[in-house]
Amino acid sequence: MIRRTLMSGAFALALAAGTAFAQDTVKIGLILPMTGPFASTGRQIDGAVKLWLSQNGTTVAGKKIEVILKDDGGTADTTRRLAQELVVNDKVQVLAGFGLTPLALATVPIATQAKIPELVMAAATSSITEQSPYVIRAGFTLPQITVPLAEWAAKNGIRKVVTLVTDYGPGIDAENAFKSRFTAAGGEVTAELRVPLRNPDFAPFLQRAHDARPDAVFVFVPSGVGSIFMKQFIERGMDKSGIRLIGTGDVTDDDILNGMGDVALGVITSFHYSAAHPSAANKAYVEGYKKLNGTRPNFMSVGGYDGMRMIYEALKKTNGDASGDALLAAMKGLSFESPRGPVTIDPATRDPIQNVYMRKVERVDGELWNVEFATTPSVKDPLHK
Ligand code: DHB
Repeated sequence: MIRRTLMSGAFALALAAGTAFAQDTVKIGLILPMTGPFASTGRQIDGAVKLWLSQNGTTVAGKKIEVILKDDGGTADTTRRLAQELVVNDKVQVLAGFGLTPLALATVPIATQAKIPELVMAAATSSITEQSPYVIRAGFTLPQITVPLAEWAAKNGIRKVVTLVTDYGPGIDAENAFKSRFTAAGGEVTAELRVPLRNPDFAPFLQRAHDARPDAVFVFVPSGVGSIFMKQFIERGMDKSGIRLIGTGDVTDDDILNGMGDVALGVITSFHYSAAHPSAANKAYVEGYKKLNGTRPNFMSVGGYDGMRMIYEALKKTNGDASGDALLAAMKGLSFESPRGPVTIDPATRDPIQNVYMRKVERVDGELWNVEFATTPSVKDPLHK
């Protein structure tokens, strides 16, 4: 009796964990900040998932795909609760989304216990994929996209830099990656400033950066926050101080770049995606995205679009077996042509290996764009080599 109870308990758990791949429907739990200060990330990814479904249909390898969208409002406790409900009640076979690093980290124990992929579309702290073999990433990592900028700065007459980053995982990754490469190349970081994630006020930090008289300020802020940063940058007169602004491409996010106006002109960033990336695949992507969603896609959207691609490609490889270990094995090593350029999912680290581009904000045909001017091909996360 006891044995039978135990067995049926284990069976129920296995079912809850989504291992019953004989089902006809593959459910994807998509958890995004659709409200709150990081809602732009949710909106961008949701728009990309809808574009993918409209272009590729909702059947793959004989399975019907169902995406269940949940709004976590950008709060980790909510993300964790939603992930739990999606696994236990909805029996999803993939957990996807995760607009911020703390939200991705909060989900790790649940995906790991359920033995299903946690497909990170947005969050970009290097260490997230180290937490569990069930975490796999469609987007990028901060160290990966920062290193080429540090090398560019050292080669382009920038000697002294003040770093100014949002004070949590990705910001600290960006600060460390910039400093280590820039100092190795002969530069000097004269101050490291960290701004709170919630309700940031950049003014006092910009004042300190201004007073330190560096050649450049290196900045990381999460997607959507670039507008506030730029506004305060002008209010402090930093645009007229002769101090250059460089950063990761999060600050000149394609979603908000046009609204920044001429102050953004000439800002140099490094990144894995620009809406101005000159390829046929990207032109089609930007046009398709705009037609469906009415806005320009940004890098967050591309993480969502390629995340969907990874699920579809994996299901084709497994002939529709959606059990967690089969899906993960099939996602590892995938190579594809993304709107950003060529991408390979590193089978060892579960992070994308991708080109990193140097870009400069320019006005082209009346709109502001991050125009790419140099490429470092096939960059790995330097912390995951
Ligand atoms: C993260 C969030 C962002 O909006 C971004 O641009 C980069 C990283 C994060 O929380 O990991």
